[in-house]
Amino acid sequence: MNEQREGPDTILVLDFGGQYAHLITRRIREQKVYSEVVPCDLRIEEISSILPHTNVKGLILSGGPSSVYRDDAPNFDPRILETSLPILGICYGHQLIAKEANGHVKPGEKNEYGITYVTIDNPIAILQGQGKTEKVWMSHGDAVFSLPKEYEVLAHSESTPVAAFRHRSLPIFGLQWHPEVVHTEKGTLTLRSFIFDMCRCKPNWLVGDYVEKAVREVKGIVGQDRAIVALSGGVDSSVAAAIASQAIGKNLNAVLIDHGFLRTDEPEAVKSIFGKFEMNLLVLDEKDRFLNRLRNVTDPEEKRKIIGEEFIRSFERVAKEIKADYLIQGTIYPDRIESGFKKHSEKIKTHHNVAGLPDVTSFRAIVEPIRDLYKDEVRMIAQRLGLPSEIWARQPFPGPGLAVRVIGEVTEEKLSILKRADRIVTEEIEKAGLKRSLWQYFAVMTDTKSTGVKGDARVYGYTMAIRAVESIDGMTASFPYLSHELMERISSRLTNEIPEVVRVVYDITNKPPATIEWE
Ligand code: XMP
Repeated sequence: MNEQREGPDTILVLDFGGQYAHLITRRIREQKVYSEVVPCDLRIEEISSILPHTNVKGLILSGGPSSVYRDDAPNFDPRILETSLPILGICYGHQLIAKEANGHVKPGEKNEYGITYVTIDNPIAILQGQGKTEKVWMSHGDAVFSLPKEYEVLAHSESTPVAAFRHRSLPIFGLQWHPEVVHTEKGTLTLRSFIFDMCRCKPNWLVGDYVEKAVREVKGIVGQDRAIVALSGGVDSSVAAAIASQAIGKNLNAVLIDHGFLRTDEPEAVKSIFGKFEMNLLVLDEKDRFLNRLRNVTDPEEKRKIIGEEFIRSFERVAKEIKADYLIQGTIYPDRIESGFKKHSEKIKTHHNVAGLPDVTSFRAIVEPIRDLYKDEVRMIAQRLGLPSEIWARQPFPGPGLAVRVIGEVTEEKLSILKRADRIVTEEIEKAGLKRSLWQYFAVMTDTKSTGVKGDARVYGYTMAIRAVESIDGMTASFPYLSHELMERISSRLTNEIPEVVRVVYDITNKPPATIEWE
């Protein structure tokens, strides 16, 4: 574990299923220290082999929804407490370390949820530089009430006697609150103290280095053979394509499948943008096949699975024709998280470029060169690679496209209405100058019909929803304030220009609890 490798200093986040495990890694990466979420039951022998090109300098045990006393409570290899690596337990992780040390953990007198004030009893180690009282963000039921004498209490709150601790001679720390959540005022300071002072990490993770690593990886896997890259024109697949192109040059073919669920003029736009690069680009018209397969299908997960399967079959056909053995695609980290790749977290939805793929494909391998990156990191890389702003500033668009924005069965009629609506929403929001400040904005074709009156006559037509969100990485999102004038313009245009639409609603749900896409 002491051998110094070429790669970046790294903090592993052992994932106990907390919704914030990924946020911890993001906050650490913001400090230019590499971090990845790994399964919580990582064994001591695996610490140095799980990420072979990095130097693991510390471990964080994340929060989680369980209670340490439940029979099925996820646990960790207790031997990791005997390594010389600094360890920080957060929330559930804090309670687990306390339990392992024979401390007293039990349900607190009252749950602490949200903003809480803690008293810092000893501002040292991970709490150095902090005042007597600090505003923090808590979310827990169980609490640590006491610890054996090898441990020292560093902070307490009204309901939690041991809200922060350290081991007196080993680099082991615990925090009942969440330093990764922005509402914890000194959260960044706390994480910095842990990663730089306790773990002695160097800030040597540069997103830019990732390109070289990814190019090397693609070259290593594909070698002299041919590959295709799945291109949608979005930032993820464009970056994957640019990396793959650097890696294997002429042996790469970019393939855009027009499944019929793209926005108006999108295939043409992608063709024109990528026409400027030296890349072989094939656009396949597969509209009828996809629509036929979705006939009578209303379940969102089934839709996603079918689209994932059809995608891969289309790619296989092209690959066979041009004798390519590998498929490269732009899966990113949140796609994997939300598709349920983590052991103790819930599957939210099947992102088509991950779990939506069938188990058996004819490809020798599916290569995902940017699978460890968050969206904002992908955008940074896109800029570094010199991709035009039409690509890196583009709003994200789901792989299954408009099919997951048509609720219920996808039909040609509904798709045509949605395409017109999407264009109106996009035009108006962009005219209002909100293009850069919003993460996404689009129309959703609901399956609710309702009564209206147009030109003195009763009409029975569709309800269109407008979805707009602000977000940093798509993992959480909030709906923005849109002025009445803007909403009115959108509503009038939708009902005036699209005869089938009689009602317009604005989606006022954050993520969580709602996801960004409706399906
Ligand atoms: P949700 O709806 O899960 O979406 O809150 C989070 C972000 O991911 C996009 N999204 C997808 N992207 N393939 C993708 O490449 C997919 O299957 C997919 N589903 C959702 C969504 O637009 C949002 O930005």
